[in-house]
Amino acid sequence: MSRPDSKSAAVAGPRAGVAASHPDPWRHADGQTNVDEMAKSLEARGRTPAQARLRRRFLKFVPVKPGEHVLEVGCGTGVVVRDLAALVGRRGEVVGVDASRRLLERARALCRRPAEGTRITLRVADGASLPFAAGRFDTALAVTVILHVAEPLRVVREMARVTRPGGRVGLQDQDFGVVALTHPDRALTERIMRGVAERVYEEPHSGRRLPGLLRAAGLEDVRLLTDVYQDTTLEPWTKTFLERRAERALRFGIVDAPTAERWLDGFTEVVAADSFVLTVNYYGAVGVKPR
Ligand SMILES: C[S@@+](CC[C@H](N)C(=O)[O-])C[C@H]1O[C@@H](n2cnc3c(N)ncnc32)[C@H](O)[C@@H]1O
Repeated sequence: MSRPDSKSAAVAGPRAGVAASHPDPWRHADGQTNVDEMAKSLEARGRTPAQARLRRRFLKFVPVKPGEHVLEVGCGTGVVVRDLAALVGRRGEVVGVDASRRLLERARALCRRPAEGTRITLRVADGASLPFAAGRFDTALAVTVILHVAEPLRVVREMARVTRPGGRVGLQDQDFGVVALTHPDRALTERIMRGVAERVYEEPHSGRRLPGLLRAAGLEDVRLLTDVYQDTTLEPWTKTFLERRAERALRFGIVDAPTAERWLDGFTEVVAADSFVLTVNYYGAVGVKPR
């Protein structure tokens, strides 16, 4: 696996590409110098078959139906917007908003011609202050976004406001408290995975908190779908994910450069022995806006 950049971390502090203000780059993607890489990683994740299955199961669980008007908050490059367009079809509408102008530029290019002819609108907006009238949408969704926002309840309340009475608000998030990973050095793996998640995210257990968040925002009939991302072959997206964890562990001073390298080498061994496993729990939660 490729090596964390020990030299720049030691000499220049945080690796170029990460804003000094907050350790989570998704908080302010436009402030990162590697936003193109971030866009590519969203698309790589979107293409990963096990990730596509997670999204499909969540959208079926919501459920998103033909003809609906659906909002996605934090749409990034539009991976979910494209799924939604296929589900709502020609009579439906998909609106994606994101705080990042740069990611939306990619989304505009990638969502230009939805096969079904669905109306798609993409605009810059903060999830905590949505530029839409109350009750405008049948369904409002946020997929792997709540983990990254400063005020999750404010965002979910906004999503509820723009949803019609009887409509649904749906959230899906990872939960970094439920990660399983094969590696020869269990203690080191635990130190890196837990240490990085605690430093990057306000709430690394975001997934399991989604039902409570929906109830706190006034939604009813809240349901939970527990799902799992499973990779047994070290998919390209998983590999990048682990490399980024190693870089951050080094930058945060959790490990030194030789240890970060040794950790990444451990995965090469595990893959060679055909025993690689990564699982991460994903939680999907849906609530109904009271009539
Ligand atoms: C991990 S990405 C998920 C993108 C997309 N939902 C997907 O699953 O491919 C998180 C996205 O949330 C956006 N984001 C973060 N904070 C936001 C906020 N306060 N309002 C709107 N979007 C936000 C980021 O710019 C980024 O595009």
